[in-house]
Amino acid sequence: MQKLEQIYEGKAKKVFRTDDPELYIVDYKDDATAFNGLKKGTIAGKGVINNQMTNALMRRLEKAGIPTHFVKELSERETLVKRVSIVPLEVIIRNLSAGSFAKRYGVEEGIVFDAPTIEFSYKNDELGDPLLNSYHALALKLATAEEIETIKKYAFAVNDILKAFWKECGVILVDFKLEFGRLTDGTIVLADEISPDTCRLWDEKTHEKLDKDRFRRDLGGVEDAYAEIMKRLLDHDAE
Ligand code: C5P
Repeated sequence: MQKLEQIYEGKAKKVFRTDDPELYIVDYKDDATAFNGLKKGTIAGKGVINNQMTNALMRRLEKAGIPTHFVKELSERETLVKRVSIVPLEVIIRNLSAGSFAKRYGVEEGIVFDAPTIEFSYKNDELGDPLLNSYHALALKLATAEEIETIKKYAFAVNDILKAFWKECGVILVDFKLEFGRLTDGTIVLADEISPDTCRLWDEKTHEKLDKDRFRRDLGGVEDAYAEIMKRLLDHDAE
């Protein structure tokens, strides 16, 4: 497998073409941004953790029947993935109140919901990723009605699987963001990453934050939190 030219550089990842037109290589960086790029920094070792955690979780999801873009881990920071065109929707599932939900509705963080919520935002940096509902997504032709139904079904299934997994690690899955892509034949698959950058993960007993909120909110101990959450995953998978 030959790594060819870079075709995309995002805030936390680079994507490269390969000599197979249907496969791309994702390369994870240590760069961290928050608030739509207004806050910038680095989290030492984050790229390695996000790569390895994403892959461990994607493998688990595939086994449970969720199609993903994951093919093979190539190195500490590099992964071979199927080529997709990303559906420009950020899909957010929440089990507890936190972050923008708590702020928008004027409630405290940590309220446990009776059932998980789903929301979409339009993946568009210039507009600041505005919230939208499925009717807006259809009006903007971001996805078809059938694709939106598939995405919702997968997103809730991912939540069931990951919530149960993190519970076994002594961790509460508070909320997370997913992105989906279309393979060349149009099949919808889970893409992007699942990491402490894209999930809120709290210690079950202390509610200590083991995710990017430590960076966003200047709580300190950012690297230690990423290392701790990765250790929980590895300890679980070693059992
Ligand atoms: O900020 P908010 O509360 O809406 O974030 C909900 C979840 O989605 C959090 O776990 C956050 O890490 C994730 N998220 C993300 N990328 C964004 C927005 C939110 O990974 N652009």
